[in-house]
Amino acid sequence: MSPTVAGSCAPPAAVLCGLAGRVPSRVVTNEQLARRLDTDDAWIRTRTGIRQRHVIDPGQATSDLAVEAGRRALASAAVDSVDAVVVATTTPDHTCPATAPAVAARLGLAGAAAFDVGAVCTGFVYGLASAAGLIAAGVAERVLFIGADTYSTIVDPLDRANAIIFGDGAGAVVLRAGHSDEPGAVGYFDLGSDGGQEDLIMVAAGGSRQRSRPGEPGRAERHFAMRGKEVYRHAVTRMAESARATLSRAGWKIDDVDHFVPHQANLRILHSVADDLGLPRERCATHVESVGNTGAASIPLALADAAESQVLKPGDRLLLTAFGGGLTWGSCLLTWPTLPRPERTMP
Ligand code: COA
Repeated sequence: MSPTVAGSCAPPAAVLCGLAGRVPSRVVTNEQLARRLDTDDAWIRTRTGIRQRHVIDPGQATSDLAVEAGRRALASAAVDSVDAVVVATTTPDHTCPATAPAVAARLGLAGAAAFDVGAVCTGFVYGLASAAGLIAAGVAERVLFIGADTYSTIVDPLDRANAIIFGDGAGAVVLRAGHSDEPGAVGYFDLGSDGGQEDLIMVAAGGSRQRSRPGEPGRAERHFAMRGKEVYRHAVTRMAESARATLSRAGWKIDDVDHFVPHQANLRILHSVADDLGLPRERCATHVESVGNTGAASIPLALADAAESQVLKPGDRLLLTAFGGGLTWGSCLLTWPTLPRPERTMP
């Protein structure tokens, strides 16, 4: 396997050629949450813009959603083999091994390289860069890359601050080797991190640090914890900075961006970032209202949603930007290719 681009000495670019998303069938509305938590629909909508989220049933796991999204993305790209399967997730099926090899095997892709990327809610942008790197380095000609998360498995259902925000889902893309100037080529990445702020978003127990302490971890330490106010502030600043850095690298102005497709953290964050960038809010793709924050799945789900409703037209210029635990952040640019209309992500 040695990808080459005819007539070019430049390394091959990763070109988007398949896209799909999937959320679980079970819907949890704000009203349903308000029956078991001290909260209400108006509070949730005002603070986050979220109306409902989808969650997996007991017995389901992240790989179940990843396999479904991956199967649809392969069909959308009309391919039945890839050289690598990459899964971005914070909620792997197991601490060990990675989830990607199991996903690959269930998709009939056993034998392909398979590994996970952990960058929390920035996972899709980091994973896209990793997949593009495999293609540029000549390691792979085609990559199936899936962002999949089931935060319902790590958020305390009684924690009203976090239970309202997150939902489960998976989104997948197929990337092939091609030219950097063809529609669908992903490029001009900006990636960053600040591990000094790791405690702002954390599951304290379950890794090697917590296990080094004597005794069983307490209930709170096994669950997802987030310092929401501080995260909000960092998210707006870092996303805007990262978006600007990427645009400047590519020589694009903000007016060149037809669609801003940010990680769907919450509506207030997305609008604040758009305002900061001087980008009209109507150019900001949002679907957080109906699925919540789906972690590494949120950007591909937003892309699939916008493609399904034919908001994205071939040739449109997209800016993707994410922020998440770590802290991590990242952005990249993409010119929309001609793709088959994705199946609905909602069951
Ligand atoms: N329903 C009702 N009240 C709630 C509540 C809920 N679901 N969750 C928290 N509250 C209460 C708090 O206990 C607090 O009460 P107090 O003043 O008596 O102490 C009050 O509402 C205000 O809480 P605060 O945390 O200051 O609210 P906020 O305006 O900052 O909104 C978030 C909370 C989580 C919505 C907001 O901080 C946020 O959006 N943060 C970013 C989270 C995010 O998107 N993370 C993903 C990044 S990838």
